[in-house]
Amino acid sequence: MITLADRVSRVKGSATLAMTTRAAELRAAGVDVLNLSVGEPDFPTPPHIIAAAKQAMDDGYTRYTPGPGLPQLREAVTVKLSRDNGIVVPPEQVIVSNGAKHSLFNACMVLFQEGDEVIIFTPYWVSFPEFVHLSHATPVIVGTDPDRQFEPLFDELAQKITSRTKGIIMNSPSNPTGGVWSRASLERIIEVARSHDLWLFSDECYESLSYDAPFESPAAIAPDYEKLLTFQSCSKTYAMTGWRIGYVTGPKEVVAAMSKIQGQSTSCPNSIAQIAAIAALTGDQSVVAEMKDAFNRRRHLIVEQLSRIPNLACREPGGAFYVFLNVSGLVGKQANGTRIKSPDDVTEYLLTEAHVATVSGEAFGDSEHIRLSYAASDENLMEAANRIKSVVARLN
Ligand SMILES: Cc1ncc(COP(=O)(O)O)c(C=O)c1O
Repeated sequence: MITLADRVSRVKGSATLAMTTRAAELRAAGVDVLNLSVGEPDFPTPPHIIAAAKQAMDDGYTRYTPGPGLPQLREAVTVKLSRDNGIVVPPEQVIVSNGAKHSLFNACMVLFQEGDEVIIFTPYWVSFPEFVHLSHATPVIVGTDPDRQFEPLFDELAQKITSRTKGIIMNSPSNPTGGVWSRASLERIIEVARSHDLWLFSDECYESLSYDAPFESPAAIAPDYEKLLTFQSCSKTYAMTGWRIGYVTGPKEVVAAMSKIQGQSTSCPNSIAQIAAIAALTGDQSVVAEMKDAFNRRRHLIVEQLSRIPNLACREPGGAFYVFLNVSGLVGKQANGTRIKSPDDVTEYLLTEAHVATVSGEAFGDSEHIRLSYAASDENLMEAANRIKSVVARLN
């Protein structure tokens, strides 16, 4: 009999990975599945970044690096933060990890503990509540307004703050909604954090994909607020998801504590990927603009196609590469004896009948939407929209 530690049952497995696996199984069985469940750019890593990685191996970057990352990479991060985000920090306030996911995990480990409450906005990225659970703190879920880019419901936020609240985790542009918060909302959330002396985590993984307004980082808006951590990543910005390089900037003491935890868990991020990340952050940035233009074009395309389908409500997201489609108009309808009761049922129906893989909002703490990723070719997006349209028309 194998008895696992309690913390395993405290976390949920990733629903997005589960859908990717199901789509792959169907494809292996010969079904022509269009996968709109993916959370990563469909572009290859730009060639100059790959060249830097190859050179790194020839140059002998094949050993352990300092725990928080190579000094020249931490320096490159500060250059990038100042150039793109108006955040001016010294390298001691930067730590590089194995992806922003790892940075977020480390930060939760060093700042939250049993008895603490941490505010998370729904729909949330699947990992936020799990990180909080793993830190033994309690996630407290606050709603957002779908008609306003999923900005926080500030009245609900005010009601849910207690003497135990320790932090707020925010993510704009958002996975799963694609929502981008306005400057006014950013100022308001900073004010809430400041007035209650809370940690504010700003997950900015999708900072390069804000289409309708220039991206603004809370740390640039409130450089004097000490309890603010900014998380960014090479994953989506430079199409480097598999390289596993993310970084965070925050107070020196927090960065030092995260280095301690990281040093005893993963030692350091991959040395070759770190050199590649320097090329990414300091090299030609036109690749970032090109990918953004392509995603923006696809955003318009998918929103236009989905908006034409009766009983679905599609708002235009301001960022990232996701559309969060309201499917509540399908609840109660049926086809072939299957009655739709929830977004889970919608994703199942779309997968089995249209062979289009999407992710149910229920994975993100939502009960009305499904997430579609438009990190796919224009042809596949058109084809997926057509298939969805025809199977939705069969429901009555
Ligand atoms: C909102 C959000 N934060 C963080 C991450 C993690 O990114 P990384 O690849 O840098 O670990 C993701 C990846 O999907 C994400 O969607």
